[in-house]
Amino acid sequence: MTAPVQADSQLAQSTLLMKVRGMTMSYGSGTAENKILENLDLDVNTGEFISIVGPSGVGKTTLLRCLSGLLHPKAGTIEVGGAIIDGPHPDLAVVFQDYSRSLMPWMTTRENVAFPLQGKGMNKADRIRVAEENLAAVGLAGQGGKYPWEMSGGMQQRVAIARALAYNAKVLLMDEPFASVDAQTRFDLEDLVIKLKQEFGVTILLVTHDIDEALYLADKVVVIAEKPATVVDVIVTGFGEERDQVDTKADPRFGEARARILHRLRKN
Ligand SMILES: Nc1ncnc2c1ncn2[C@@H]1O[C@H](COP(=O)(O)OP(=O)(O)O)[C@@H](O)[C@H]1O
Ligand SMILES: [Mg+2]
Repeated sequence: MTAPVQADSQLAQSTLLMKVRGMTMSYGSGTAENKILENLDLDVNTGEFISIVGPSGVGKTTLLRCLSGLLHPKAGTIEVGGAIIDGPHPDLAVVFQDYSRSLMPWMTTRENVAFPLQGKGMNKADRIRVAEENLAAVGLAGQGGKYPWEMSGGMQQRVAIARALAYNAKVLLMDEPFASVDAQTRFDLEDLVIKLKQEFGVTILLVTHDIDEALYLADKVVVIAEKPATVVDVIVTGFGEERDQVDTKADPRFGEARARILHRLRKN
């Protein structure tokens, strides 16, 4: 486990971890071509929490799938640690919105978390140990024997997060990970990822349509809009490491940033 002090020093260094330039993506071709993203640039520094916010249908999932290597952009480059990537990369792990489809129902929770570690050549005892450690980190100590379908939606999404953490990726890519749970569970999961970011020093890139969620979580909010979508605004939140669901959202800067984003999105 990485100590919080290390996460801070990583942040202070502000090294560029992920660099996206001129990313363009469309579905279909010829007269049926549907341009979704155009000329999109993005910088992600080590240890940063970046939220990408935009309306439903703007292309957030498409963007995240391109970044994760699951889709190939039509143009542009994605660099991780200075090297151009072209396909799924071990430094990147994805947490999808639909946890019910991302976990395998025939495997226990522990097996779900341990499964991707096979690709790292880890022996079975180590895989199980790492799975249990990461389940504990997301508040699921002792729950490894349960099947996903025996758990609530919020717990299943914790399992998906534990699996991404266990993989020891440098960047967690999260696609509206809390959109399918109730409000209180959503707040708990938001606070969990803030805690994990501090404890493990992991870099997080999260897409959401929820402006409050984007602001509450992030060091930097990237607003995407228009058709095809591109970056239309970037806001450095400046709320510091400590967040509180009531106090942070009552901060006048929170209200100002929310208004700025809403205005920007309503222009379209
Ligand atoms: N596999 C696909 N084939 C064709 N069109 C798609 C595909 N996936 C998404 N789209 C279209 O791309 C647009 C952006 O979708 P998406 O990236 O899912 O947006 P968001 O995640 O912001 O809601 C939508 O108009 C959607 O219909
Ligand atoms: Mg989506």
